[in-house]
Amino acid sequence: MASSTTSASFSMAVLTSACVWVLIGASASAQLSFDYYTRSCPVLFPTVRLTVGAAIAREAQMGASLLRLFFHDCFVNGCDGSILLDDTPTFTGEKNAAPNVHSVQGFEVVDQVKSAVEGVCPGIISCADLLAIIARDSVVILGGPWWPVKLGRRDARSASQAAANESIPPPTSDLKKLISSFQNVGLNIRDLVAFAGNFSPHTVGLSRCTNFRDWVYNETDIDVLLAQTRKLGCPGVNSIDDDNLAPLDFRSPITFDHSCYYNLVQRRGLLHSDQQLFNGGPADSLVKLYSRSPVAFDKDFVVSITRMGDVKSLTGSNGEIRRNCRRVN
Ligand code: HEM
Ligand SMILES: *[C@@H]1O[C@H](CO)[C@@H](O)[C@H](O)[C@H]1NC(C)=O
Ligand SMILES: *[C@@H]1O[C@H](CO)[C@@H](O)[C@H](O)[C@H]1NC(C)=O
Repeated sequence: MASSTTSASFSMAVLTSACVWVLIGASASAQLSFDYYTRSCPVLFPTVRLTVGAAIAREAQMGASLLRLFFHDCFVNGCDGSILLDDTPTFTGEKNAAPNVHSVQGFEVVDQVKSAVEGVCPGIISCADLLAIIARDSVVILGGPWWPVKLGRRDARSASQAAANESIPPPTSDLKKLISSFQNVGLNIRDLVAFAGNFSPHTVGLSRCTNFRDWVYNETDIDVLLAQTRKLGCPGVNSIDDDNLAPLDFRSPITFDHSCYYNLVQRRGLLHSDQQLFNGGPADSLVKLYSRSPVAFDKDFVVSITRMGDVKSLTGSNGEIRRNCRRVN
């Protein structure tokens, strides 16, 4: 970016941010909105997009990892950036919670986005909002639908490892458990299938052997050919292979599309929890719909990820705008 543009938008950001602060102070129960930073940071979207694009160009899987960060943030006490806080000797965050440890990644990319954004609009954009924009840009870059992102979240001053352990469903979950985890954050079975369960998320990205070993070895409900293939990369009960990676969607591992639904209909979900969505139960009809119709899938995915972004956000004068996403101010 040319330095004249940067300094122009920098001074504009300083000016307008003063007004924004007054507005925020005035309405403690603010709602999220699409144009929250339009005046205070007009270069926000291109700045985020550039940094996310560069990160995914370096490593395609990063797009998947970044999308997942938003999910793992929102399911634990709302979309408040709590997953980004580092552990310290006196503070236990969420990064080492069971669903996250050795598994979630992308924090360096979030740091890069934050520092690019602080460069043009210092002190204005929350880390929680950045996760929402980063997730959208990742999906678009991987070939999925675009959607307008609601903004205005503020960052948590705390995190909860216990809540992270509790709220993010494990891959051993059955359908009932998946539905109840979604209900706990105000999402329904349609969101589960149209979005999480649809494995739209799981049409991109990788899973570690430890998360699917039981499933490929011990369950009868999985396609035989897929089970054989995956066993090769995950040879035994020996934990030495725990971190071997396999694509969640073997048809198109780094493209965001609806192919995962074909996999489910053919009993080729890689995770037990994935195949639960096509197991003769109440989610089957939606899985069939999305396997036939990429349009229905894209439309419902956008509705659901927007709903997830609304989960218990901190707004108004709650929380803070972190200067560094890894620690409270
Ligand atoms: C419905 C319950 C869900 C379960 C049980 C589940 C479970 C998992 C597991 C076990 C992995 C592999 C992690 C590893 O081996 O390290 C994974 C990966 C992933 N999940 Fe989910 N997930 C669920 C919902 C979602 C949702 C709602 C999203 C996004 C909005 C999502 C996005 C992803 C992505 C993108 C990856 C690949 C990450 C990467 O490659 O770095 N998942 N999930
Ligand atoms: C969360 O789960 C991890 C891994 O199982 C465990 O070590 C940790 O003690 C749990 N934390 C809380 C607060 O329950
Ligand atoms: C499959 O189940 C058997 C019996 O419950 C167990 O001993 C074995 O460890 C399981 N295999 C894997 C790979 O988890």
